[in-house]
Amino acid sequence: MNESYREWLEQKKLRLQALDCYSAGVTPEGLAQQLGIDSSKIAKLNFNENLFVDRSRQTLLLKQVADEIDLRMYPEDEVPKLVKKLAEYLRIPQDYIVIGNAGDELLDRIIRLFIEKGDTALSFTPSFIIPQLCVKRQQGEYVTVPLKSDFQLDVPTMLNAFSEKTRLLYICSPNNPTSNQMKPEDIETLVKVFPGIVILDEAYSEFADYTFVPRIREFPNMIILRTFSKAFGLAMLRLGYAIANPELIEILTKKAPLPYPVSGFTIQMGIKMLENIDIMQTAVAALKVERERLIKSLNQIAGVQAFDSKADFVLMSTKLPADFVYTKLLNRGVMLKKWGKLLQYENCFRVTVGLPEFNAKLIESLKQINEE
Ligand SMILES: Cc1ncc(COP(=O)(O)O)c(C=O)c1O
Repeated sequence: MNESYREWLEQKKLRLQALDCYSAGVTPEGLAQQLGIDSSKIAKLNFNENLFVDRSRQTLLLKQVADEIDLRMYPEDEVPKLVKKLAEYLRIPQDYIVIGNAGDELLDRIIRLFIEKGDTALSFTPSFIIPQLCVKRQQGEYVTVPLKSDFQLDVPTMLNAFSEKTRLLYICSPNNPTSNQMKPEDIETLVKVFPGIVILDEAYSEFADYTFVPRIREFPNMIILRTFSKAFGLAMLRLGYAIANPELIEILTKKAPLPYPVSGFTIQMGIKMLENIDIMQTAVAALKVERERLIKSLNQIAGVQAFDSKADFVLMSTKLPADFVYTKLLNRGVMLKKWGKLLQYENCFRVTVGLPEFNAKLIESLKQINEE
């Protein structure tokens, strides 16, 4: 083997080892195998997937797409068709929209295009981790300011952190994992004076009270991120879109630089879901009812505090240690996302609003753990 190749690869591996990457942990099938139960019995409440979407109607659409598309062709005409449908759904012009392989890929694309070595990105903590991983991969610095105890933005401290090197501001609202929406006036204050790109991550906006989409023209440096993974229940397909002024959209589209990043099958499925928008609307309405029931039931359990939510998940804090609760729940086939201490709250978990039977399993298990 070529010596210089070996040396170069070893150095590369060392540098890549230092990169933090996302690790999902145990999978539902893996857990079901460990417990000797069927995976359909696992209460998978860890990834904010939306099981309220009618699967049989979705499957019907999937079959229609299979009949309609020709897999041998590149998806040339599909992108503009989806953009047109999205423009109608969002009531904004088509040149304000770019599509991508779900929110994660768009985050990665925006950060790859706009952040370079030596740039700084600003955000708050706790929040969604992917932007931080992408900025660090670009050899940028990621600065975070803690949220206030009510999970709202600490605007003066964030304003103080702005500098000529700060080229990205990441605001997740509704925020993962705190599940609240940030006050619009706070977002506005920050965006108006920020000397770079602002990503407003609205992955959960369909479950929330308001969106910045109708106001996008007011903020030339803002990119709003949306996904089909949550409200539309298409997490498996990986489809998302971003909304921004045409100048930024052109960069995100033309400098991507891959010509067809999203599969034609996925795009067609997005179109079908928009043409049958009542599937999403019915699911969101049902989830919101269940969300209130879940919060109420969690708060009735001794030593559990559940917070108000504007997303498809709920933040919960327990008196018992997080590792203990997490393991006990896993052993009962309940999967949550463990966060541990968040701000002043100990032992935090992010709980997806699941179907009633799975939420009931969680509630029952938490009660049993308390009694042991
Ligand atoms: C805040 C937020 N943004 C973006 C995403 C990315 O989702 P996807 O890549 O499925 O669109 C997630 C996923 O959980 C999220 O919580």
